[in-house]
Amino acid sequence: MKSSIYDCVILPLSKIHNRAGNITIIESETNIPFSIKRIYYLYDIPGGEARGGHAHKELYQLIVAASGSFDVLLDDGQNKKVVTLNRPDYGLMIIPGIWRELIEFSSGAICLVLASHKYDKNDYIRGYNDFLTLKSKQKAIRITDSEL
Ligand code: TYD
Repeated sequence: MKSSIYDCVILPLSKIHNRAGNITIIESETNIPFSIKRIYYLYDIPGGEARGGHAHKELYQLIVAASGSFDVLLDDGQNKKVVTLNRPDYGLMIIPGIWRELIEFSSGAICLVLASHKYDKNDYIRGYNDFLTLKSKQKAIRITDSEL
């Protein structure tokens, strides 16, 4: 859980372009630094709706705006940042221990998510206060370690 928002990076993805359009390819462990166990996508999101609002304990994700755009709010308990995704050839990698919220979906947006594990409801931290408690415990362990 000692993760930082600064380790959640934008990864440029491959793009093969020709006059008939573009193709982007993502291969497990080749273009992204984890093995893909699950793919899902969010779509038909009503205007003004927010998704996410949780953190994961073990899960790595690559989030891609396959169509349209949206903002991803990232929070590691100390720092926050907002990343706008609006291109299908860029992905945002979110590492474990990061609170995220997805907002400002454009009409027709498709949020593609590549995930490192199959669905596990026990991997979710759904309460923001629980998240902050876990992060502050981790910070306390880090400080103790550095004193040794
Ligand atoms: P959730 O992860 O809370 O969605 P979001 O973060 O986009 O707001 O999941 C919404 C619902 O879908 C919840 O009931 C759990 C279910 N779900 C699965 O059954 N399998 C999955 O792989 C995912 C991502 C969600």
